Amino acid sequence: MSGGKHEEAVEALLQEHRSFAPSAAFAAQANATAAIYDEANADPEAWWAKQASALTWEKPFTKVLEWDAPFAQWFSDGTLNASVNCIDRHVTAGNGDKVAFHWVGEPETDTRTITYNDLLADVSQAANALESLGVSEGDRVAIYMPMIPEAVVAMLACARIGAPHSVIFGGFSAEALSDRILDADAHFVITADGGFRRGEASALKPAVDEALKTCPDVKAVLVVRRTGQEVAWMEGRDLWWHDVVAAQSTIHAPKAFPAEHPLYIMYTSGTTAAPKGIFHTTGGYLTQASTTHRLVFDIKPETDICWTSADIGWVTGHSYIVYGPLCNGVTSVMYEGTPDAGGKDRWWRIIEEYGVTILYTAPTAIRTFMKWGEALPAAHDLSSLRLLGSVGEPINPEAWMWYRKNIGGDRCPVVDTWWQTETGGIMITPLPGVASPKPGAAMTAFPGISVDVVDNDGVSVPNGHGGLLVITAPWPGMLRGIWGDPDRYRETYWSHFDGVYFAGDGAKRDDDGDLWLLGRVDDVMNISGHRLSTAEVEHALVGHHAVAEAAVVGASDDTTGQAIVAFVTLKISGEVTQGDEAALIADLRSHVALTISPIAKPRQIILTPELPKTRSGKIMRRLLRDVAEHRSLGDVTTLTDPTVVKMIDALMANHANDDD
Ligand code: WT7
Repeated sequence: MSGGKHEEAVEALLQEHRSFAPSAAFAAQANATAAIYDEANADPEAWWAKQASALTWEKPFTKVLEWDAPFAQWFSDGTLNASVNCIDRHVTAGNGDKVAFHWVGEPETDTRTITYNDLLADVSQAANALESLGVSEGDRVAIYMPMIPEAVVAMLACARIGAPHSVIFGGFSAEALSDRILDADAHFVITADGGFRRGEASALKPAVDEALKTCPDVKAVLVVRRTGQEVAWMEGRDLWWHDVVAAQSTIHAPKAFPAEHPLYIMYTSGTTAAPKGIFHTTGGYLTQASTTHRLVFDIKPETDICWTSADIGWVTGHSYIVYGPLCNGVTSVMYEGTPDAGGKDRWWRIIEEYGVTILYTAPTAIRTFMKWGEALPAAHDLSSLRLLGSVGEPINPEAWMWYRKNIGGDRCPVVDTWWQTETGGIMITPLPGVASPKPGAAMTAFPGISVDVVDNDGVSVPNGHGGLLVITAPWPGMLRGIWGDPDRYRETYWSHFDGVYFAGDGAKRDDDGDLWLLGRVDDVMNISGHRLSTAEVEHALVGHHAVAEAAVVGASDDTTGQAIVAFVTLKISGEVTQGDEAALIADLRSHVALTISPIAKPRQIILTPELPKTRSGKIMRRLLRDVAEHRSLGDVTTLTDPTVVKMIDALMANHANDDD
């Protein structure tokens, strides 16, 4: 979100509504109380230990935190099994008939109901199947799947046998998939023939086949049949899920693993072209995922129907579709498709049909619904909803207000939750029933979490000032490192300020001390809540035969939060006719989509004879961002040739967005 515009909107809304106090009725039944903060502040470790005790441990822990900065261990002498915590213990408690997932496929009639009993049988079969294929404790398994129940089953089956999963978003390209499989050194892949998206069957298996050309160590590929489309088959490597899994026993005896046993790796974009394998372990992660889910969403397991609209390929899906909700034994809705599949009111129909009580989504989706108009939600009975959440990017106050009014009927508390792939669970959020949230503010650190806003020297800023967001104490769900690269872990997160975690986000503390998130301060972009690095997109662009140099910036965008704008110089300079230029730009955009993912397609590509550089040869991204956001150009005197940026500015003015 660009600074000026955001600030103005915030000011305007603050004039109108300062904050939204919870209703007395909501507060009276809320899980969270103000006393929780006092208890957690008095002794954060004891508080987290109490939360961890709510999990089912095979061997209870006696140690809480061991902190050898920047390496943390939580509950290290305890042992547990993540899949037992998500499934078996609910079945043992007599809740096996309870629905774990109402799965809604994109095609209208394609639905499935999966109880905790069903899940136990399915996960046990899949765990037996993986073991029969030779997957053992510690082996990494790559999962590249659409939003179907088997994706959850695959994750939990891996967890059950202690094989860390690495779920790769189904929208990623073959190249991105191969990079991740190689980095994690995964020898097993679980995928599907394809999935349904935007009204069509889209393929996944061809990308796996392509990716595996460069991954010789992959021994087996399990393929779920979802769409029935034709797939190429490699005998001896490829196996149908329905052949291998269905043949297994529905009983699998789980083994307990140490709390610090790796549960999963999730790749995310950093400031360089190479994605980082963020890895999470078992006990601390489950503690934070389940505790935040219970308190932030005010979970009542008997009656709530939770819907987190994320894809399972991102951390939000891991923590708030799979691990948090299942640990808490609730019923969730899981939806395969896009918001407009079968009509732009699809979400509201799903909420009405399943009686969804808690909706957790991203600002980009909310802004899209705003564009589609309030008549669509108004035509449906959304009265089952009682709480709304937002995540992934700063939520502008207008969107917050629209969400509260048009989706929440002015009755549901709205929680804006800040966290990251690295944090494993929610870190900054209002607690419903306790806080009086302000539209657009994430408000307060979660109990047991310590954050600060600091200046460039690491000094805490006073109220009413902005700075950099840091986390000042280890937390249970924190990443335990970057897979295979402890130095990069230390360097990326712990070297900016001594002993504190640098999040990469700007934040402001308002006059009341409440927190507002202001977007990334590094070269990470946030496109519709998807995280991408400028370097990654530049790397893809210079991989195209025609490109000499590329500079990429994230420019603010009314719908997607940020959008990618690329400035490109060509190897063969000279005149390119307008027709050629349009064709080349189209080619470059699809090249980026093929190299990374369609979500990385630049909104706009500007071909320019030169890029603005400092005398030392560094590309001046700040200026390019000004150009891309149509701001007046600041100081250009440090440039080798100040006319370059003026020329680019003029080129930019001649271009409409390249968006399809
Ligand atoms: C980055 C992390 C955490 C799940 C989804 C994204 C931005 C996330 C908020 C929020 C403002 C937010 C930050 C953060 N972000 N939530 N409520 N307000 N910004 O996970 O892909 O790891 O991205 O998303 O910039 O650093 P991720």
